Amino acid sequence: MLIEVAAETRQMAYAPYSSYQVGAALVGASGMVYSGCNVENASFGLTLCAERAAVAKAISEGEDAFQAIVVVTEDGASPCGACRQVLAEFNPDMDVYLATPDGRYQRTTIRELLPDLFNLRRQPVARATGSRTSAISGH
Ligand code: THU
Repeated sequence: MLIEVAAETRQMAYAPYSSYQVGAALVGASGMVYSGCNVENASFGLTLCAERAAVAKAISEGEDAFQAIVVVTEDGASPCGACRQVLAEFNPDMDVYLATPDGRYQRTTIRELLPDLFNLRRQPVARATGSRTSAISGH
């Protein structure tokens, strides 16, 4: 179950400064699930949120369309503004489940959380997918 995946990944959080652990489970259009946790840094501004860690994992695995994200925190907190904008890039209508480790949750959407999101009004250039031409092998 997705809350369990996010709750388990939350245990991996590197949060020695805030002691506030966050786990995320991002569900791709393919049904694949990409988890993430927060990764703090002594230079506090460099901290990576769990939601964006999950996005980076998914994108680097070749998936860029998402149906839903489950976020688990001790108090069912909502994603920060930066993470809302990053999630909106891929699907403003994404379902967002705000959950606690005991399995309780509330459902919302990115559009509800970020109604007036920043949009460049330019179509992104298609991403390269599949086999790529290698600068080394020439294939
Ligand atoms: N955090 C997240 O992982 N996601 C959010 O949406 C908000 C905050 C993390 C960052 C930091 O490690 C800790 O929670 C306290 O701010």
